Amino acid sequence: MKILITGGAGYIGSHTIIDILENTEHEVISIDNYSNSSPATFDRIREITGKTVRNYNIDLTDYKSLRDDFFARESDLDGVIHFAALKAVGESVEKPVMYYHNNLNSLINLLKCVEKFDIRHFIFSSSCTVYGNAEAQPVTEKTPTQQPESPYGYTKLVGENILNDFSKTKEGFNSLSLRYFNPVGAHESGLNGELPKGRPNNLVPVVTQFAAGWLNNLWVHGNDYETRDGTAIRDYIHVSDIAHAHVLAMEYLNENYGQFQYDVFNLGTGNGVTVLEVLKAFENKSGLTLDYQIGPRRAGDVEMIYADNSKAKTMLEWNPTRSIQDAMASAWKWQKRLDQIKRDDMAHHE
Ligand code: UD1
Repeated sequence: MKILITGGAGYIGSHTIIDILENTEHEVISIDNYSNSSPATFDRIREITGKTVRNYNIDLTDYKSLRDDFFARESDLDGVIHFAALKAVGESVEKPVMYYHNNLNSLINLLKCVEKFDIRHFIFSSSCTVYGNAEAQPVTEKTPTQQPESPYGYTKLVGENILNDFSKTKEGFNSLSLRYFNPVGAHESGLNGELPKGRPNNLVPVVTQFAAGWLNNLWVHGNDYETRDGTAIRDYIHVSDIAHAHVLAMEYLNENYGQFQYDVFNLGTGNGVTVLEVLKAFENKSGLTLDYQIGPRRAGDVEMIYADNSKAKTMLEWNPTRSIQDAMASAWKWQKRLDQIKRDDMAHHE
């Protein structure tokens, strides 16, 4: 198969490319405008896999460019995996129009091209945020979705609906929304990982950057939740396990072509882990002690969410194998690598 990966230089996109190149014969092409990433990711992919990935630097909200500069030239595509999106929850509250414009127009433009160039398969990166503050845990795919807490979350819920509606009307097409829980960790080589531009928002990059001395403080956002240690519970899933789910999902779409139009899967480990347990796992793997501080709750955070992943396990034959300790060990390896890159850069400029 020939597959388009949007956001191929991003965190989950790049790990998925690595998995595809290591485990399949598929050809992958990326579209990424580096709005929250860098071309250096493709060097890292080459270092790990020995293979070169072509990237088109196209803004997906520019329909004409997407159609003429990409799809018209690469018209024999079999499928699209759509990762590219803005994903900072807090920023989406400050700049809702930017989030709706970017995340929804990107998806709509891709689907217009899927229609025009008759592409068979589509995978959409969704999020557990579509469940909102669900009462019963773990959440299954049948748990009702709720109005998400943020414009970011709303773009995921609306995105799923757009894809579902589109899939009902398009002949010879099938698609999936994959609801990621909290993706963490890095490639086991330590050669590729998460590198957001600016101060990270997500827990694990905050922890590793704090431990490396890049950040001055580490706040635990609230210890007055009704959980075993008072801190919020999430389902931290290793990025390499998430990446592999896309390989299986593409196989599933291909093998069940003509059998169904649209479906949804949770991608989580099935285990709820508290913030303090994440910090302990990091301390355990790094041998360091984290001098963290307890702060107030963060606006928009839910108390607890974790996945029932039995549908993906059964239907996709997906078996996430990596633990939170594995995730912390690889994230820390990656952080130390970044430290080295930074030192080399500074020495180079002196
Ligand atoms: C959120 C969204 C998720 C989205 C992701 C993208 C929900 C339930 N989840 O994940 O759908 O894909 O953002 O970025 O809306 N924490 C600290 N200190 C920190 C940072 C985080 O204590 O410095 C805590 C948070 O309060 C939270 C946990 O760590 O309890 C995880 O936070 P984070 O990594 O930001 O992910 P979510 O907010 O769960």
